[in-house]
Amino acid sequence: MKVLFAAWEMDPYFKVGGLGDVVRSLPNALSQLGVDVRVIMPFYKSLKLEGSLKKRVAKTEVLYGKKLQKVIIYKVINSLAKVPVYLVQNKKYLDVATSQETFAFFDKAVVDIIKNKVINFIPDIIHCHDHHTGLIPFLIKNSNLKVKSVLTLHNLAYQGFSPVDVLAKLSINRSDMRLSKWEINSRKLNFLLEGIIHADIVTTVSPTYSKEILKEMYGMGLEDVLRDYRHKLYGILNGIDIDYNYLLHFKHVPFPFLEPDEKDRAMKHYPVAEGKKLNKQFLQQQLGLKNDETIPLFAFIGRFDAKQKGIDILHKMIRRYALKNEQYQFVILGTGDPDWEERFDWLYNFYPESVSCNFVFDTKLAQIIYAAADFILIPSKFEPCGLIQMLAMAFGTLPIAHKVGGLTDSIKNRVNGYLFPEYSAKKLFETMEKAVKIWQKDKINHFKMIKAAMKEDFSWRRSAGEYLDLYKKLIAR
Ligand code: GLC
Repeated sequence: MKVLFAAWEMDPYFKVGGLGDVVRSLPNALSQLGVDVRVIMPFYKSLKLEGSLKKRVAKTEVLYGKKLQKVIIYKVINSLAKVPVYLVQNKKYLDVATSQETFAFFDKAVVDIIKNKVINFIPDIIHCHDHHTGLIPFLIKNSNLKVKSVLTLHNLAYQGFSPVDVLAKLSINRSDMRLSKWEINSRKLNFLLEGIIHADIVTTVSPTYSKEILKEMYGMGLEDVLRDYRHKLYGILNGIDIDYNYLLHFKHVPFPFLEPDEKDRAMKHYPVAEGKKLNKQFLQQQLGLKNDETIPLFAFIGRFDAKQKGIDILHKMIRRYALKNEQYQFVILGTGDPDWEERFDWLYNFYPESVSCNFVFDTKLAQIIYAAADFILIPSKFEPCGLIQMLAMAFGTLPIAHKVGGLTDSIKNRVNGYLFPEYSAKKLFETMEKAVKIWQKDKINHFKMIKAAMKEDFSWRRSAGEYLDLYKKLIAR
C-alpha cells in the first residue's frame, strides 16, 4: 500500500506545533507496519536541512493564475524522520508560508505532480492534514484520479480562508465545487470546510474530539457540516515517539530514572522516586525557586493562547487561590500572547520564590521540567489531542487536566492522573488540592499512579495500526 502525506510542517525540517510531531512520527510508524509512506511539503527557505540527504529528483510546471510556474522537487531523508520527503520548490509562492495562496498553490502542485506522474510514486491514498491541504481532496476528484483521500483535523480553530478569486487561479469552476452559501455570501473560500466535504474519510486526533465537534461549543461554526458527514468521521488518538523521547530524556535530564522492570535499557538510571526528587531539587535551584521538597511543584508547558490553552483560568487560579500562603510552586514554560506573558510576569514579580516564568521555546528545559515536576497542569478549554500529558506521563509526572478532547482519552481520573469536568479556576484548584493531599499523605497511592502513567502505551504503533485498518477499509470500497 502506498500513502502520501501532505502537510505544511514536519519536524525536524519545519515545526510550528504538534502537527509537526505527528507528521514526523506517524509515517515512520506506518512504514514499520509495511506501508510505503512518503511525505510531501513545501520547500520554505527556512527549512532546517542539516544532517539530511537531499537530492533533486524532478522538475515540472504548474498552471496557476493563468501562468505556468516552475516547480522543482527534491527528495530528502533524515535519520530522525526516516521516511522520504518530497520538497516542492517554487520561488514565488512557496519560499515563505505567508498567505493562504501559498497553500492553494501547494495543493494544486501536489495534485498536478501525482496526475502527471512527475515523481516515481503514485499513492493509493493521499493523507492530508489541516486546512493547508484542504483543497487537495477536491482537486483529486476534479482530476478524475483514482487516488483516495483522507483529511485529518488537528484543530478546528484554524480553518484557512482565502478570497473566492483563488478558484479562478486554480482553474476551478465554482459550480463544480458546490460552494456553501456562507462561502458565496462572504466571498471567502474555507479550505478546511472544502476538505471535510470532499475527502473520502475525515479523522480527528482523538475519539472524544470527533464527537465534541458535532456540538456548537466545539464545532467552530462547522458543526452542522460535520454532522452531515458524520458517517465518514473517525477519531484516532495520537501517540508519542517513545524512543525519540527516551533519547532526549537521557540527554537532558540530569538524573534519569526508570521503572525497575525496564532495567534492560543499558543506561545508568535512578529508581523513580529518587530520580524525581533529585531532578526537582536541581530545577528549584536552577530557576531560583525556594529549595524545598515538601512544596508541591506544578508545571505548565504550552503555547500562550488564551482561546485554547486555558491560561486565563491558570492565571486566575494562581493569583486568587494558590499563592495566598506560598504553599505551591509553579514553573511556566511557553511563548505566545505578550499580554498574557506580562500578566504571568507580574505574578513572578510578587512571588519570585514560588513562580518561575520562562517565555521561551526550550526543549531542554521542557525535558527537565517533565522529569522534575510533581504535577503538570493542562487546563485547555478544548484539546483535539494534546501531547504534553503523554510526554509528562512517560516522565512520571501526573497530569491535572480539563476533561476534554484527547485529554479525556489519554488520562484516567485517579488512575494515572486527574481530570476536572468544569472549566473554571476554582475546579482546577480543588482538583490540585485533592492531588496534593494524596501526594502528601498517601505516597503509596501516588507512586502507584506514577507507575500506571509511565506504563501507558502511547506508542505510535498503536495509532498507526488504527490508521492502517482505516486505509484498508477505504481501498476495499
Ligand atoms: C493541534 C492540537 C493538539 C494536537 C496537535 C497534533 O496542535 O491543538 O491538540 O495534539 O494538533 O495533532
